[in-house]
Amino acid sequence: MGLFSKWLKIGKLEDLPKRSCFQHKNKAYAVFKLNEEVFVLDDVCSHEYSRLSEGEVWDHEVYCPKHGSRFDIKTGEVINFPATRPVKTYEVKIDNGEVLLKL
Ligand code: FES
Repeated sequence: MGLFSKWLKIGKLEDLPKRSCFQHKNKAYAVFKLNEEVFVLDDVCSHEYSRLSEGEVWDHEVYCPKHGSRFDIKTGEVINFPATRPVKTYEVKIDNGEVLLKL
């Protein structure tokens, strides 16, 4: 991170749905709102090409819509096969009701 990291606004906390996709510079991020906390992961599944922002959410887990691997939304860890690698997570902060993503 260090010198080149920056915070990007992704929207107002109150306007964010339970799951959504945020695009920045040709990259897609899956954004999940659990209670009043926000978590951001790479949108693309670590198994094949599928969008985690389109997956079903149960508690703090998201089901990949393609083959059903589950990921922990808070850590990006894989909970079950066929995916074996975690998805990257990003740091988020909420400032004055505005959700900011650290890149
Ligand atoms: S693409 Fe996500 S589990 Fe296969």
